[in-house]
Amino acid sequence: MQAVQSYIKNNKDRFLEELLDLLRIPSVSADPAFAGDVAKAAEFIKDKMMAAGADNVEIIPTGGHPIVYGDKMIDDSLPTVLVYGHYDVQPADPYELWNSPPFEPVIKDEKIYARGACDDKGQMYMHLKAFEAMQANGGVPCNVKFLIEGEEEVGSDNLEPFLANNAEKLACDVVLVSDTSMIANDVPSITVGLRGIACVEVELTGPNRDLHSGVYGGAVANPINTLSQMIASLQDGDGRITIPGFYDDVEVVSAEERQEMAKAPFDLEDYKIDLAIGDVAGETGYSTNERSSIRPTLDVNGMWGGYTGEGFKTVLPSKAYAKISMRLVPNQDSETITQLFKKHFESIAPDSVKVLVKPHHGGQPAVTSIESQAYKAASMAYETSFGKKPIPTRDGGSIPIVAMFKEILKADTILMGFGLNSDLIHSPNEHFGLFNFYKGIETIPYFYQNYAELKK
Ligand code: BES
Ligand code: MN
Ligand code: MN
Repeated sequence: MQAVQSYIKNNKDRFLEELLDLLRIPSVSADPAFAGDVAKAAEFIKDKMMAAGADNVEIIPTGGHPIVYGDKMIDDSLPTVLVYGHYDVQPADPYELWNSPPFEPVIKDEKIYARGACDDKGQMYMHLKAFEAMQANGGVPCNVKFLIEGEEEVGSDNLEPFLANNAEKLACDVVLVSDTSMIANDVPSITVGLRGIACVEVELTGPNRDLHSGVYGGAVANPINTLSQMIASLQDGDGRITIPGFYDDVEVVSAEERQEMAKAPFDLEDYKIDLAIGDVAGETGYSTNERSSIRPTLDVNGMWGGYTGEGFKTVLPSKAYAKISMRLVPNQDSETITQLFKKHFESIAPDSVKVLVKPHHGGQPAVTSIESQAYKAASMAYETSFGKKPIPTRDGGSIPIVAMFKEILKADTILMGFGLNSDLIHSPNEHFGLFNFYKGIETIPYFYQNYAELKK
């Protein structure tokens, strides 16, 4: 292991240069204008995977963006780790809020600034480099498979059927993912829960055409006003979601587990200062950390209609739109929640408007056990590299494919995330600490070693 760690130290500048090259490719999966760049990023991953020493490396086309697969099967009697990550990124808009262009990475204050630096190019790339380091120094201690996709940020629609159709090719004992966050650089943590998600688009139609808001205003429903009222009614004064049946399947987290969670260091004042908010808001009876991890939510992600251009236009619009997402917790079901939303939203629309609810993508929540050998292997790996035992935490974000790994491959996922919640993923000025990038590369080989040892 000393040789692996020395190799990482001796090659750290090159590792970083390679990551910066990857970050220069604007692989935005949501926007068809970037499809060529998404394909370029897949080529880049393929080349680096091969160079690192993986076998059977291939780019697998899908109905959307390609999957990159590769493996190193050394011995049937050894356990197999499937490494999952994504090379696609969120759109970088609004560009004007970036201090440096999102696809021209810069290092400032020991951090890499670029779209995808943390989510997930930087974190995914740690795995290729950790693998390279092990390969160059005696080889990996167990079998490894890589599954790197280009559609995570758009819901992994093509990956799910790929899993189902290739369950044997992807067979593994555990899935390893770095696409989450830890508490702080000196407070390592391992994510043991992810929220699910249900996304819907709603369209409200009032009059059959845009009207003069003086001539008709007051007498005809304005769909933007009505939509605002309908959306506002989805939460009550206690921050609880009013959709009938919404909480029926919500897992009640035990008092013991809540007490454990509350031990994680958290400073509410710093949190408010960081976000420049006068106060936090959320469901009565739950702490900020609980609200953003073990409780479900409903948020409007975007809302539009009418005139939003320069100056003013006194219009009573015909249409109003919103994109709404609900974060789900165990044991809520994304499909069920989408249907409950649709039924409720249609039922609260007054006769003065027509309502259309269009289900979008979704994903199931996931929890992993801290009793498994894989969790122990990960925990010990952090203890070695950080000098501290990691705290198990639940994250608020979603990685829909994780539940599918369990359902289809029957494999648990270990979420060894090295990002920080302050890394501004999905926002302007996303970044990833150099400390985090290198710490990830250092920690991962210990996981393999511990896991192979524990599975003997
Ligand atoms: N890596 C994130 C998810 C994440 C972030 C988990 C931070 C835990 C902590 C992932 O790339 C992501 O953004 N997922 C989307 C899923 C959606 C597109 C279906 C999300 O959570 O919004
Ligand atoms: Mn991600
Ligand atoms: Mn993301």
